[in-house]
Amino acid sequence: MRVLGIETSCDETAAAVVEDGRRIRSSVVSSQVDLHARYGGVVPEIASRAHVELINDVIAEALVEAGVELGDLDAVAACHGPGLAGALLVGVSAAKALALTAGLPYVEVNHLEAHLYAAWLEEPDLEPPLAVLVASGGHTMVVAVEGHGRYRLLGQTVDDAAGEAFDKVARFLGLGYPGGPVIDRLATEGDTGAVRFPRAMLADGFDFSFSGLKTAVVTHVRAHPDDEVRDIAASFQEAVVDVLVGKLVAAADHAGAATLVIGGGVAANTRLRERVLEAAEATGRQAFLPPPALCTDNGAMIAATAWWRLRSGGPTPLDGGVDPNLRLPTLG
Ligand code: KG4
Ligand code: ZN
Repeated sequence: MRVLGIETSCDETAAAVVEDGRRIRSSVVSSQVDLHARYGGVVPEIASRAHVELINDVIAEALVEAGVELGDLDAVAACHGPGLAGALLVGVSAAKALALTAGLPYVEVNHLEAHLYAAWLEEPDLEPPLAVLVASGGHTMVVAVEGHGRYRLLGQTVDDAAGEAFDKVARFLGLGYPGGPVIDRLATEGDTGAVRFPRAMLADGFDFSFSGLKTAVVTHVRAHPDDEVRDIAASFQEAVVDVLVGKLVAAADHAGAATLVIGGGVAANTRLRERVLEAAEATGRQAFLPPPALCTDNGAMIAATAWWRLRSGGPTPLDGGVDPNLRLPTLG
């Protein structure tokens, strides 16, 4: 079964063709980073307009790269939330129009479930229960995955998301947007122990808090303007990673999970990936880290999730809309 997956929730226009929920035949991601960089963050109206301009070409490229035509597809899927309303509408409208013209089922996909699902896309034999950390620009949560579609939310951020902390700190340090990849690169040359920034709520349940850390960085830099930026970046990143890894391992202990999994844009972070591997080894677990291109927003994770959703729940009616505040569907 071939599914076209479309992702336009934020600042990436993406489309992919995936076979049977696991074989990626094509995956095209057109990033709008250059359009937003000068504003220091994503401007929703600019994102929506760029999606409108790019969407047809991105979909066409995904089909050509996969060597298929519309008629060779079995379903068309789009991310319907969470995300920016105007941005989501572009992908959902395109998917529904294609489904209608080609007489194919349309499937709406939850953005957060798709980030969880990226692991299964690469490694279909992953055995639940899994402890999964989803950390992106808008969300940070630890989830116990008990099976396909069976998610127990153990904790989430009470204020900023981890990616948001990277973006805000990078902006404050004058490093530009998006902050995650820049800090990731710069931190490799810095001293992780140069400044001991706070690890908020580390030993305190499964919830996260990152806004105090951002304030701590600002306060420190104002008091020590001559500190090396790379040391600040490395020390900040280490504080974020300590908390993310600590909560992921605690979640695995709680859920009796033998596998640690990460997803979402922050899961592309080099230091986080290293530390999750170390934590898995230290606790006798295995770790599964999807490749960075499947961690940041992409169409393949949408197509893979849609494949499973279509088999378990059937298609979505064509009057299905978007939901900018959509939550992960969880157990109890
Ligand atoms: O999942 P994603 O592509 O979009 C959302 O759903 O938000 O995540 C984007 C976020 C941004 O905050 C970006 O700074 C962060 O992921 N990010 C990273 C890295 N690459 C992207 N954070 C840390 N290190 C990275 N290498
Ligand atoms: Zn995302």
